[in-house]
Amino acid sequence: MLSYRHSFHAGNHADVLKHTVLSLILSAMKEKEKPFLYLDSHAGAGRYLLSSEQAERTGEYLEGIARIWQRDDAPALLAPYLEVVRHFNRAGQLRYYPGSPLLARQLLRGEDKLHLTELHVSDYPLLRSEFHKDPRASVLRADGYQQLKSQLPPASRRGVVLIDPPYELKTDYQDGVSAIQKGYKRFATGVYALWYPVVLRQQVKRTLSALEQSGIRRILQIELAVRPDSDRRGMTASGMIVINPPWKLEQQMNALLPWLHQTLVPSGQGHAFARWLVPE
Ligand SMILES: C[S@@+](CC[C@H](N)C(=O)[O-])C[C@H]1O[C@@H](n2cnc3c(N)ncnc32)[C@H](O)[C@@H]1O
Repeated sequence: MLSYRHSFHAGNHADVLKHTVLSLILSAMKEKEKPFLYLDSHAGAGRYLLSSEQAERTGEYLEGIARIWQRDDAPALLAPYLEVVRHFNRAGQLRYYPGSPLLARQLLRGEDKLHLTELHVSDYPLLRSEFHKDPRASVLRADGYQQLKSQLPPASRRGVVLIDPPYELKTDYQDGVSAIQKGYKRFATGVYALWYPVVLRQQVKRTLSALEQSGIRRILQIELAVRPDSDRRGMTASGMIVINPPWKLEQQMNALLPWLHQTLVPSGQGHAFARWLVPE
């Protein structure tokens, strides 16, 4: 039985980092005319009401999206992401947070496709109703990891895969890596983005070293910490591992991260970086 609900965490600093990276990847994919597939293995509910009991209980979005969405001095590279957030909050108040499927829905073109999977009994119907009128999207209640076997390579031979597990189960760490290895065997030119939380640094190190030893090249690691590593206080940082990133992504993230870190963490604690885990 899955108990994780993303509504407690929507719009927090980890979502800001994840969705910034995703928006830059999707924007870069659109520079070529050929359509592509966006595969979201752990899609969540799609839309999150920030005044819900869950979101109010943690208030995490207040130290995330609320700190940046209306800033006039935000770097231009954040525009694709922030424009989607503003689109869902046109009245000028921050009411909704668009999760990864809605971010992609807004950024994709008419010919691109979305394949979204979500297992949770309550979140799946919410996700499905967001997309019932969108002919580009297939939405399934199915295991996300399996999709990297069943849906790859895409017919268009271009694709972006987001793997964003809740890490509610310890096996999520290994399952993410195995799914990437299986997907990569079938579709070596795809862009794969795996989100990870830093709760215990040792666990992240194990995941990174499994990827380093997989033989896969061109692996970029992007991380933003709001506190120093600790073995006591829950999630202190989060990151994205991107395989086959668009060529500009490292440079874009290194340009963006100082502003993002400073704005999300005014105390200056923690760190932010984008660096090659495995180069070309
Ligand atoms: C971190 S949330 C996803 C958030 C979403 N990607 C976003 O950025 O807005 C993780 C989701 O994965 C779902 N989930 C957990 N295990 C899954 C699995 N094996 N396959 C598909 N979905 C799963 C959970 O119910 C949860 O909604």
